[in-house]
Amino acid sequence: MKFLIDDVNIEKIRDIYDKFPIDGITSNPSILSRYGKQPYKVLKEIREFIGEEAELHVQVISEKAEGMIVEAYKIVQELGENTYIKIPVTREGLKAIKILSKENINITATAIYTQMQGYLAGKAGAKYAAPYVNRIDNLGADGIKTAKEIHDIYKNNNINTQVLAASFKNSQQVLELCRYGIGAATIAPEVIEGLIKNPTVDMAVKAFKDDFEKLCGEEKSMLNCK
Ligand code: E4P
Repeated sequence: MKFLIDDVNIEKIRDIYDKFPIDGITSNPSILSRYGKQPYKVLKEIREFIGEEAELHVQVISEKAEGMIVEAYKIVQELGENTYIKIPVTREGLKAIKILSKENINITATAIYTQMQGYLAGKAGAKYAAPYVNRIDNLGADGIKTAKEIHDIYKNNNINTQVLAASFKNSQQVLELCRYGIGAATIAPEVIEGLIKNPTVDMAVKAFKDDFEKLCGEEKSMLNCK
């Protein structure tokens, strides 16, 4: 499963990239708005940091297909070919996905709350489809089940689209989809940190260090013990 950071805060991105195996960055208009800086300035800084090969996912704002298409070309022109254009799966969005996919623009179909949206986006040619796991749960439905079923629909219909699961609130949701072999997950920095946070592990590591120092002295390691 690919791992992406769902944020545009460059300090957080640098810090997480440094420690975790990360494949790219996703953004949406709300994330950009929360960060509060000029979108292309922020996104270009991210592109420079992650390099040309890593995935950067950026959403269009227009509601009509024609506007989405023009925006898509502008985004790719500014941020490079390995930029995935996020298009909400509405009626107009589907039209734009169909046209842009034929023109070899990489599309991430987004705002997916139902299996049928996922199916239609895949059939229209999207490279990724992003079901919103936690938001679906909040509606009283089952976000994990929705993501798994979209994954199955692609397999059963020979559709070459990957699920890029989004909107996670805890490690269990991520683990469940990882176990199922979902293509990718985009995760907020706080949830990524939670994937490895475990006081029991910290205690075990501290006990190893304490024991070794009893043997060899304070601040000694395998580099300088006698
Ligand atoms: C992904 O495509 C979405 O933009 C994002 O993951 C939604 O996450 P949220 O529900 O935490 O806002």
